[in-house]
Amino acid sequence: MSADLDRPHVWLLGAGSPPLLLLHGTGGDEHDLLPLREHLAPDAPTLSVRGSVLENGMPRFFRRLSEGVFDEDDMNRRADELADVLGAAERAYDVAPGSWTAVGFSNGANIASTLLLRRPAALAGAVLLAAMAPYRDGPPVTDLSGKRVLLSNGLRDPMATPEHTSRLTQQLRAAGAEVKALPHSGGHSIDAQQLPEIARWLTGAGTVG
Ligand code: MLT
Repeated sequence: MSADLDRPHVWLLGAGSPPLLLLHGTGGDEHDLLPLREHLAPDAPTLSVRGSVLENGMPRFFRRLSEGVFDEDDMNRRADELADVLGAAERAYDVAPGSWTAVGFSNGANIASTLLLRRPAALAGAVLLAAMAPYRDGPPVTDLSGKRVLLSNGLRDPMATPEHTSRLTQQLRAAGAEVKALPHSGGHSIDAQQLPEIARWLTGAGTVG
């Protein structure tokens, strides 16, 4: 728990809230999602970290056995590591423990929901973009009351399929999270048209549904 902040990352100071944790997709890095902050919460203190696993040279947040089949032992271990990185960042940058809202795309969304389901004290909530249900046989039993989650998947996403979307939504709600579903008509992507609504949701003004 006394880990140093030795993970490649970007820290951006800000006066707004909540603090954001940006988590890139496979093959991205800590710079990838920085433009999202401009749209979602330009004043938010922001930590963007790089995944610690390489797949053919592409950074990821945990190993997978094949596309869509996760190495869940590694996934759990990397989620614990990420929770330690957050603890170190909270100390280094004076961020209230557990106050982060993760904004993750694809593999970044999948580690964000793993973190929520396994280490709920690490996050206040999450914006999950192109997210799958990370645990094949169901997530650990946990209490997510008070956590806010926005889930934005594409109706034509071949990886984060509508089946994944409804399973993840159900799992998060069953654990007590407040989940807003914001589907879009595209594929495995971020729908730029939804960014203003996600920005409103981040300020707490979004409606739950
Ligand atoms: C994952 O491995 O997390 C998902 O398949 C999404 C991705 O391609 O990164």
